[in-house]
Amino acid sequence: MDNSMLAKLAEAAIDAAGRAYAPYSKFRVGAALLAEDGRVFTGCNIENASYGLANCAERTAVFKGVSEGATCFTALAVAGGKEDVAMPCGACRQVLAEFLPPGAPVRCVTLDGAVVRDFTIGALLPGTFRLPV
Ligand code: THU
Repeated sequence: MDNSMLAKLAEAAIDAAGRAYAPYSKFRVGAALLAEDGRVFTGCNIENASYGLANCAERTAVFKGVSEGATCFTALAVAGGKEDVAMPCGACRQVLAEFLPPGAPVRCVTLDGAVVRDFTIGALLPGTFRLPV
């Protein structure tokens, strides 16, 4: 994955964070997911007055992509945090590991893009739960 594509995804994630619905936490998160066919699916966190129903930006992006017929993704960018990046939560890591290969890059950036941290799906969730086939 070339750096310019990851930079483009990071920009799309920052843009998506601007659409976050986060009136309770005030913590905005955006995500941008690159599908194998070249499409980019963005997502933001969407909170609810019933707090436990909040949906993370990463899962919004995955669910948008899968529901539009994309099931294989090759890279992800997440935008969140001010001093340091927001890392994907545990639930999102498991959902991401279902649809991205372990070597897929994950770029996490702050909302202003000043801090950039690069990971892979496999590094974020070693020992992913999988059903035996
Ligand atoms: N959040 C995400 O969108 N992604 C994560 O991986 C962690 C947390 C959101 C959920 C909630 O709206 C806010 O951040 C504070 O937890």
